[in-house]
Amino acid sequence: MNVSIVILAAGLGTRMKSKHAKVLHRAGGKALVEHVVDAALEIADPSNVVVITGHQAERVEELLGARKIRFARQTEQLGTGHAVLMAKPLLENQPGLVVVLYGDTPLLTAGTIRSLLDAHAASARAATLIATELDDPTGYGRVLLNAAGGVTGIVEQKAATPEQLKIRLANSGIYAFEAPLLWKHLSAITPNAASGEIYLTDMAEILDRAGHTVRPFQIKDPSELFGINTRIELSQADALLRERKVRELMLAGVTIEQPETVTIDSQVRVGMDSIIGPFVQLRGATTLGADCIVGACSILTNATLADGVTVEAFTLIADSEVGAGAGIGPYARLRMNTEIGAKAKIGNFVELKKTKFGMEAKAQHLAYLGDSDIGEKTNIGAGTITCNYDGTAKHKTKIGSGAFIGSNSTLVAPIEIADRAYIAAGSVITDPVPADALALGRGRQVIKEGWAKKKATAKEK
Ligand code: UD1
Ligand code: CA
Repeated sequence: MNVSIVILAAGLGTRMKSKHAKVLHRAGGKALVEHVVDAALEIADPSNVVVITGHQAERVEELLGARKIRFARQTEQLGTGHAVLMAKPLLENQPGLVVVLYGDTPLLTAGTIRSLLDAHAASARAATLIATELDDPTGYGRVLLNAAGGVTGIVEQKAATPEQLKIRLANSGIYAFEAPLLWKHLSAITPNAASGEIYLTDMAEILDRAGHTVRPFQIKDPSELFGINTRIELSQADALLRERKVRELMLAGVTIEQPETVTIDSQVRVGMDSIIGPFVQLRGATTLGADCIVGACSILTNATLADGVTVEAFTLIADSEVGAGAGIGPYARLRMNTEIGAKAKIGNFVELKKTKFGMEAKAQHLAYLGDSDIGEKTNIGAGTITCNYDGTAKHKTKIGSGAFIGSNSTLVAPIEIADRAYIAAGSVITDPVPADALALGRGRQVIKEGWAKKKATAKEK
């Protein structure tokens, strides 16, 4: 069965009180519309997914660009029915079904879209819509049924009579239409008397009047249908998406301590037997291998950790990679394409920026390594600083393997220190150091015998 999916994302979302289009607001680490598009892509080919854009169309299209889907512009937001009409030129020759989704329902899963398709296929009908009984259906369209259980219409909150407002069967905004019938009747929708908008929901009544059957597909768990209209609903959706993510990871074999305190984005992947501490944030395209430990309050953004990496508490890792068995933190910071080799150790108050740090190398305390390339098994002493910036440009530091950088060394870049070289503690290094050499760059120590005693006696006089 050929399935096309139209996702409506052209509205501004007045109730958000924002300068950003509603579907660009984020929950669970992705924009609202990304959640809906990703669920759609589990069902249909990218070329069969059409997103209707309007408000900030360029931003929405750019955000979704990598997904290779199609777009249709709705320059004036004249209503949900008008929005679907914009997809007609792209899809009207496609047979099969058209599924319509709204871009502001981020909790919807592919599983639910699939069960809608199954319900639709089970008997001859023109359209099927997901509906659900809500204790408080305020804000949702109400689904009107005939004695046979067929849908005869959908009435919006604003237009509903007091009697209709008592109906608890709410319209989800998720529909499956027989494609030829949708395209045939869609242009027949007239502007709503109250709002002047062209409501897609009027299709139910139009199809019913034309003698076709429209069925509700009732689902028990309404949480998936949650439509976001306000910032309060945005934060509720965020909480639900995060709860869902944490459950998914725990069921896949990840230990999460105090799961209610962690923040894990939808795209994050974590290997089996990894342990996530309290208040950890795993953001963006972060991937953890198996048997990793991430200590309390650490924040990892677009980080890639191989198997068996330990990140101790209060560590920040952004856009960087860590090799198998390495140990990072506590209180460490890795950023901008830093690469840490296998079994390397980065300790407290060590910052690495754009640095390649070799296998089994160590920088255990208080250091800044920027724009550097550091070889295997090299030891970086406490307080080592790469002076990579001269006020105008950035310069590189290269340190070979098996080298020893004494504590409190200042390495003025550009600089090269070859394999197995030794840098005496407290040195300022400005010239290249050859392999196997010792470099000292500091004032010699002077001893003045009895100086302190003389000073004391002078004071007594
Ligand atoms: C809609 C339904 C309502 C349902 C509810 C479920 C209609 C008329 N009403 O109401 O029955 O219970 O969703 O969440 O469909 N959009 C466009 N172009 C437009 C107008 C809207 O692309 O011209 C998009 C919006 O960006 C949004 C989606 O369609 O993503 C839904 O629009 P919204 O205004 O939020 O509809 P509701 O009032 O929530
Ligand atoms: Ca809505």
